[in-house]
Amino acid sequence: MAELSKQHWSAARYAATAHFVPAFGAPVVELLAPQPGERILDVGCGDGVLTATIAAAGADVVAVDAAPDMVAAARAKGLDARVVPGQSLAFEREFDAVFSNAALHWMRPQETVLAGIARALKPGGRFVAEMGGHNNTAAIQVAFRAVLAKRGIEALDLSPWYFPSSAAYRARLEAAGFRVEEIAIVPRPTPLEAGLGPWLDTFAEDFFNPLPPEKRIPAKQEVCDLLQPILMDETGLWIADYVRLRFRAILSG
Ligand code: BEZ
Repeated sequence: MAELSKQHWSAARYAATAHFVPAFGAPVVELLAPQPGERILDVGCGDGVLTATIAAAGADVVAVDAAPDMVAAARAKGLDARVVPGQSLAFEREFDAVFSNAALHWMRPQETVLAGIARALKPGGRFVAEMGGHNNTAAIQVAFRAVLAKRGIEALDLSPWYFPSSAAYRARLEAAGFRVEEIAIVPRPTPLEAGLGPWLDTFAEDFFNPLPPEKRIPAKQEVCDLLQPILMDETGLWIADYVRLRFRAILSG
């Protein structure tokens, strides 16, 4: 497993190829149930589409993300967005709730991230999040392993992702001082309207960057060729095998 992702985040590319990420985030915002006047921290806010939804409910939201281009896009929406990696949260007992969608699986060490989130919350505050769960994009990851193994590379060593089971993440949350109210794995087949190639560019640079530049496009094409009979439907739509882990936890004490 790679220690830190070197994925390059472009807000324009994300909006063009990954707009489904916030679009599918509505149930997580519903689980958060933001109230007017609450102070809420959004960890890994991306371009701020969901942060804006939370702010529209009347909450006072601080949004953080490690990627400057995404934070600039969030600020352009009028949000209080700051460039702060999830591993470097320096808030102290300030927030009624912490929210996160489709971001935690990029962050490690998880212990550091969860400790920062726990520190940021007032006692009794809630942590509501969704991330990739166990078996997320399993077919895609197996294809990476097959294609890169032919080039002498173990894809698992390059993976920037952490997709835990509910039992594994419950244990992490409890170790960080949370009482888990609910946690569940939610399979969510995800249409990739832009296709698998643009998805690979947007999310999977870490797997292809170790190859010489001229070998990256053929390797990506090989991944697409392997997966097409599995992930493309009869109409030509790619549907990725997403699996989410969604939870609501309360900070003890
Ligand atoms: C996800 O949000 O589940 C995800 C994002 C990037 C790569 C793989 C999965």
